[in-house]
Amino acid sequence: MNKTILITGGAGFIGSHLVRLFVNKYPNYQIINLDKLTYAGNLENIADIENMPNYKFIKGDIVDAEFINKLFKEYSFDGVIHLAAESHVDRSITDPMAFISTNVLGTVNLLNAAKESWKDNFDGKRFYHVSTDEVYGALGDEGFFYEDTSYNPQSPYSASKASSDHFVRAYGNTYKFPYVISNCSNNYGPNQFPEKLLPLAINNIKNNKPIPIYGKGENIRDWLYVLDHARAIDEIYHKADNGKTYNIGGHNEWTNIDLIRLLCKIMDHKLGRVEGDSEKLITYVTDRAGHDLRYAIDASLIEKELAWVPSLTFELGLEKTVDWYLENQKWMDRIVSGDYSKYYDKMYSNR
Ligand code: NAD
Ligand code: DAU
Repeated sequence: MNKTILITGGAGFIGSHLVRLFVNKYPNYQIINLDKLTYAGNLENIADIENMPNYKFIKGDIVDAEFINKLFKEYSFDGVIHLAAESHVDRSITDPMAFISTNVLGTVNLLNAAKESWKDNFDGKRFYHVSTDEVYGALGDEGFFYEDTSYNPQSPYSASKASSDHFVRAYGNTYKFPYVISNCSNNYGPNQFPEKLLPLAINNIKNNKPIPIYGKGENIRDWLYVLDHARAIDEIYHKADNGKTYNIGGHNEWTNIDLIRLLCKIMDHKLGRVEGDSEKLITYVTDRAGHDLRYAIDASLIEKELAWVPSLTFELGLEKTVDWYLENQKWMDRIVSGDYSKYYDKMYSNR
């Protein structure tokens, strides 16, 4: 093994795709997946790589500084790719403290442990902080988020992510700590927890339940296939200069209502329904408090400097995603029933 890399949040949606990519693509890397297994963590997402010789799962909480410090003493990590977070905006509105705790304190704990472990000799070391476009706030009808757009977070979630980004950059400035940051737009694809718009809508359409659309459905998001985000992280981790930030996005803006109408059309076709049937499930509900109107990423820097572009068209990506959820109904059922949380005890009780 020529490198040991800590990936945090690897049992979550994006983290699981990233862990799989790294474990398969880099047999000479030892990949340590650290995850607390909150409601959003699901080891079934990465069951296929569980027994790979270059992979290890560790259950633990990034908020527990003592535990994190011990972990960094036990393993000589060459790099950290940090994804663990509370990630759902609606939950941040009802319980902001959980977001401050994990997203801010947890990130600073990791920074401190890495700094101490690397003892200010940062040669060959790298801390990659995975962040979001929501730190930039909301756009009007025009314009894009660039890497130098001022931060203007509007929800407790985005404020906690913005804060963690500031800490990472402050460590870079103060201690010459080696970091990179990326800010990505909305991801979609397999294994996303069904509290988020697309998996929630897919599951409700399948079960003939109402599809809740916040407000008038006019809010705009820029959608990117999750594996394309993982590919971008791979490129940035290996090729970016220290201290760089890259925005990642799909050049793929949709109002929520148009997106759901397209999804309904695809689902009608896949489920053998008459076209227009699923659309009848659309139900307008009370808007999200402080709902950001529009996000749109200008991804030209990563395209120009690292030659990264999305690999899939949205139509293909969305169809693949629908197929995955329809073929993996058991995955969804086990989440809805809560059974997925028993997987750890079953698989790891003797290890
Ligand atoms: P997710 O909610 O699906 O997964 C988060 C993972 O972190 C879970 O496995 C959870 O168990 C783990 N975790 C939470 N708190 C922890 C703690 N205290 N200690 C250890 N592990 C903990 O999230 P996601 O959608 O995969 O997002 C991953 C990262 O990417 C987050 O940092 C998020 O801010 C960022 N991001 C997400 C999107 C998106 O569209 N989903 C877009 C841009 C950036
Ligand atoms: O932009 C990146 C961000 O994208 C990530 O940082 C977050 O972790 C991720 O959760 C996502 O945030 P959003 O709030 O954009 O995603 P969500 O799926 O919750 O909502 C997408 C849009 O759909 C948003 O405008 C709210 C709306 N919505 C959402 C749900 C769950 C609905 O209209 N109905 C719903 O039931």
